[in-house]
Amino acid sequence: MSENEFRTVKASQQVLKELMVPSYANFGGKVHGGIILSLMDKIAYTCAATHARCYCVTASIDSVDFLNPVEVGELLTLYASVNYVGKSSMEIGIKVVSEDFHKGIVKPTNTSYFTMVAVDEETRLPVQVPGLVLEDDVEVKRFLEGITRRKFKRTYKDELRQARRELDVEIDLGRLDGENCRLQR
Ligand SMILES: CC(C)(COP(=O)(O)OP(=O)(O)OC[C@H]1O[C@@H](n2cnc3c(N)ncnc32)[C@H](O)[C@@H]1OP(=O)(O)O)[C@@H](O)C(=O)NCCC(=O)NCCS
Repeated sequence: MSENEFRTVKASQQVLKELMVPSYANFGGKVHGGIILSLMDKIAYTCAATHARCYCVTASIDSVDFLNPVEVGELLTLYASVNYVGKSSMEIGIKVVSEDFHKGIVKPTNTSYFTMVAVDEETRLPVQVPGLVLEDDVEVKRFLEGITRRKFKRTYKDELRQARRELDVEIDLGRLDGENCRLQR
C-alpha cells in the first residue's frame, strides 16, 4: 500500500441487522451479552478490513456498557465507522440499538470502540493502513477523540502497572476499611 493512500470514512461504514431468535436467550430470557459482543466483533472486522483491504485482528475492546436488556424477537442494528487510524491500527466506533417491532420503540443498547490491527496474512505482522479522509466536523471530532482515547489508554496502562508495582499488602490493609469484605487470614 502506498503511504499516500487515503480513504473516506463513508467508504467503509457498515450496518448489520440481526433478528434476536429464541436460541440467543440466556437463563433470564433476555438476549445473551455474548451474542451482542460477537456481532460487534463481526462488524468491527468488516469495517476495518473494508478500510484496510486486508486481514485484520482485534487488538483490544474498550469497556462495553449494556444500557438496556435486549428481548428475544427484537431487531438488533449495529452501526460501525472507522473513527481513527494510526499506522497499522484502526479505532472502530460501534453503536448498537434494538427495535421492538410491535411497539415501534428503538432503544440504545451499547456503544464501544474496538481497536483492529491490519496484519499480513502469512507473517501476521502489522501492516500499514490507508489514512482517513475527514469530510465533515463529526468525522474530525471522532478522529480527535480517537487520539485522546489512545493517549488515555496508554496512560491508564502505565498508571495501573505502576500502582500494581507499588502495592504492599501490609501497608495497604487500611484501604479495606468500609469495603464489602472480611479479613480472615
Ligand atoms: C495486535 C497485534 C497484531 C499487535 O502486534 P505487535 O507486535 O504488538 O505490534 P506493534 O506493537 O507494532 O503494534 C501495532 C499496532 O497495534 C496497536 N496495538 C497493539 N496492541 C494493542 C492493544 N492491546 N490495544 C490497542 N492497540 C494495540 C499499536 O498501538 C500499533 O498501532 P499503530 O501501528 O497504529 O501505531 C498482536 O498483538 C496480535 O496478533 N494479537 C493477537 C490478536 C488476536 O488474536 N485477536 C483475537 C482474534 S482476531
